[in-house]
Amino acid sequence: MNDLLLEIRNTLLMLKGMGVEQLSCSEDTLQKFDLLGNLQHAAKYDESLDEIRADIGECTRCELSRKRTKLVFGEGNPQAVLMFVGEGPGQDEDRTGRPFVGRSGQLLTKIIEAMQLKREDVYIGNVVKCRPPGNRTPLPEEIEICRPFLERQIQVIHPRFLCTLGAVATHALLRTTEPISRMRGKFYDYRGMRLLPTFHPSYLLKNPEKKRETWEDMKRLMAAMADHR
Ligand code: URA
Ligand code: SF4
Ligand code: URA
Repeated sequence: MNDLLLEIRNTLLMLKGMGVEQLSCSEDTLQKFDLLGNLQHAAKYDESLDEIRADIGECTRCELSRKRTKLVFGEGNPQAVLMFVGEGPGQDEDRTGRPFVGRSGQLLTKIIEAMQLKREDVYIGNVVKCRPPGNRTPLPEEIEICRPFLERQIQVIHPRFLCTLGAVATHALLRTTEPISRMRGKFYDYRGMRLLPTFHPSYLLKNPEKKRETWEDMKRLMAAMADHR
């Protein structure tokens, strides 16, 4: 029930972000904004990742659909204990349809392997599933429109641990605007899961001196995961 309320709140916030100030909740309005779909699935817990992927379809719900090549749903172990959440596809991801396969992805893969894990052990997803043109930051309304899919993925996978990569993913899931430099390396609650923000790999590529802090964060994460087992 809490999830349903959260879903209603998210949907209303999304509409507000799109400039909607009043709602006449006719069947037409609901269908126009895909509200019914969003609300129905919120009550449904036994869905699969395949069902979520099928619901997304050839999505045109937000502007990012216009310039994407391939939609990037996410990949990995559907029963992962740890899930990474990035911002959105870049050029290589848009071309291949897979998350984190470009330069940032190679660094993320190295980080995962440094944690004595393999990419196939974890799940890797993104806040928006389509590439923002020129790799710009996704707009708040794009994040709100795409959010239900990420939240459903998290609900289905239900990892014990979430690692948000960078400010966009951290702010999207925790609904805060606190700087990532202050949030990284600490655990937060996300619907009963333990969420640890860290820097985005693309930031590390530009600021390699921050890798040390990222590694400190990953060690904390590994220690918590070891305790959990
Ligand atoms: N950066 C992201 O945030 N996500 C990807 O999938 C690739 C690069
Ligand atoms: Fe749909 Fe999300 Fe892609 Fe926008 S970013 S078109 S909401 S899948
Ligand atoms: N290992 C490191 O030393 N730094 C990282 O950022 C990741 C893994």
